[in-house]
Amino acid sequence: PRLVVLVSGSGTNLQALLDAAADPAYGADVVAVGADRTDIAGLERAERAGVPTFVERVKDHPDRGSWDEALTAAVAAHEPDLVVLAGFMKLVGPAFLAAFGGRTLNTHPALSPSFPGMHGPADALEYGVKVTGCTLFVVDEGVDTGVIVEQTVVRVEEDDTVESLHERIKTAERGMLVEQVGRLAREGFRVDGRRVVVGA
Ligand code: GRF
Repeated sequence: PRLVVLVSGSGTNLQALLDAAADPAYGADVVAVGADRTDIAGLERAERAGVPTFVERVKDHPDRGSWDEALTAAVAAHEPDLVVLAGFMKLVGPAFLAAFGGRTLNTHPALSPSFPGMHGPADALEYGVKVTGCTLFVVDEGVDTGVIVEQTVVRVEEDDTVESLHERIKTAERGMLVEQVGRLAREGFRVDGRRVVVGA
């Protein structure tokens, strides 16, 4: 199966997928990497792996809707079976969801439905939870509200900072992402209500 991965930052989640997909037994190939901005490590990681890249910046478009359409076309050009948002910091819009809804996965560094949005690790630390973690879900029109595929628990340590906690979460996140993306890409899946059904 063909994966297109979208990034906005350092791309450590992307790197984990690139490393896994290098093994033919993984059963999925990263055929392209897209971003909403230039000059990020995530795009360099793709280039080092010889994977085609594309960038669609919101500010290059007259409005959000045309950016959404341009992003959708750029992804569609690579004919993905599955799209993975790996640290992608934009909400995909109606055009994207019409084309790839139900087969776009996203990771969030908190245990949904707790702490949605841009600052999951910081919000968890601030709240004082003893456990947090990461969530892999099927993207819908909301912010981190999609149907949950898998979650991994990460304990919060007494001396944690936002950075130390997020790094520990990202370690768990990479493992969960590689395992689940491979599984869903190989076996197929569909969304049934609030459940993901794996297997054709
Ligand atoms: C990940 O924790 C992702 O869930 C969050 O931002 C981080 C991206 O990290 N949205 P990277 O770009 O994959 O290193």
